[in-house]
Amino acid sequence: MKPCEQKHSSLHSHTAIRPTRYGPRPSLSSSIAHKRFVKAMSSNLKLFQPIQVGDMALSHRVVMCPLTRSRAHASHAHSDLAIEYYSQRASVPGTLLISEATFICAKAGGFRHVPGIWSTEQIAAWKRITDAVHIKGSFFFSSFGLWAVRLIQRPAPRPLTKSEIREYVEAFGTAASNAVHGAGFDGVEIHGANGYLVEQFLKDGVNTRTDEYGGSVENRCRFALEVVNSVVCAVGASKTAIRFSPWGDLYEERMKNPVPTFAHLTMKLKELYPDFAYIHVVEPAATGDRDRRVLQHESNNFIRDIWAPKALISAGGYTRKTALAVAERTGELIAFGRPFIGNPDLPLRLRYDIPLAASNRKTWYTHLSPKGYIDYPRADEDPRVVQSKL
Ligand SMILES: Cc1cc2nc3c(=O)[nH]c(=O)nc-3n(C[C@H](O)[C@H](O)[C@H](O)COP(=O)(O)O)c2cc1C
Repeated sequence: MKPCEQKHSSLHSHTAIRPTRYGPRPSLSSSIAHKRFVKAMSSNLKLFQPIQVGDMALSHRVVMCPLTRSRAHASHAHSDLAIEYYSQRASVPGTLLISEATFICAKAGGFRHVPGIWSTEQIAAWKRITDAVHIKGSFFFSSFGLWAVRLIQRPAPRPLTKSEIREYVEAFGTAASNAVHGAGFDGVEIHGANGYLVEQFLKDGVNTRTDEYGGSVENRCRFALEVVNSVVCAVGASKTAIRFSPWGDLYEERMKNPVPTFAHLTMKLKELYPDFAYIHVVEPAATGDRDRRVLQHESNNFIRDIWAPKALISAGGYTRKTALAVAERTGELIAFGRPFIGNPDLPLRLRYDIPLAASNRKTWYTHLSPKGYIDYPRADEDPRVVQSKL
């Protein structure tokens, strides 16, 4: 693996509210809305206490999971609907949002109406969205998403050639640079979960290669580590993160024992990148967009043990009660997926124990439709909730 020649973290060191090349980020600290939210969120409960993650000063520990919603144009450039959608979910200042999985290059696609980040049009569309999130005082990581979807689709999956591996590793770096330096994201979360390309290398149920990218734990982790290095070289370690789902089995990518592989990867990341932004783990209770039955021995505690005391985001099947308990015990950030679809102001609802709205599954992936996307009310717009709580 070629180490980075440049130290990007110092080249692009930012404070939480920073000037971008498109102009200064608006100062929120003096706005009335900001002060109102900061006051409303303050609490003795750990879940609602501030935390520094990479370069970001988050005001609480509720995170929005990557959620594919299929609202981009056919060109894979996001529609303006996404400006409203993400801006609604950024409404509590200091929230970390993680974007839906995004294609890093045209070849890595496969699903219609999923956004990309390789063309000028796509980068400009994302910039309008990151601006809207930043105006709310929140933070935005881009999740990609090497979705090299075609490679997992039947009937004929095939291993990548060595030159394709090099091409994809490089494409990850280019996409990271597009995301941070072009589209204004605060960082990049590499999609190493849910059966997509990086995970296909990691899991021995899928990776049947006999070269240096297959077989041993070290070999199966090689591609992931090359991708991480490519992204770190492009944007710096403090703006780089990765998502894992060791127990996930959405595409039958099950491992008999994922512990040695994910333990090795976690150790390597800790050793190589002391400034790494965070690791995001999907708990055994979820796989892809659904619940999963947890077996007794399944737990991500081995990752926690290695990674501590660095920032860890845990996702998958959380309720208010379990999120409060885990955050209290570990200080971790808790990411919510499905609950964020129907509850644009989820952090505030959790803070005040306001009942959560269910989302309509049928509109999760409706192409380009505003329905079920930007029409879920905030609690203070909904007459059924107790206004006095706010
Ligand atoms: C509609 C929908 C789309 C999703 N899209 C993505 C995605 O793009 N990338 C990803 O890593 N996970 C994706 N997930 C999984 C979620 O990020 C999350 O791990 C999962 O929903 C479990 O969390 P929850 O129990 O809070 O919903 C998706 C889930 C749903 C429901």
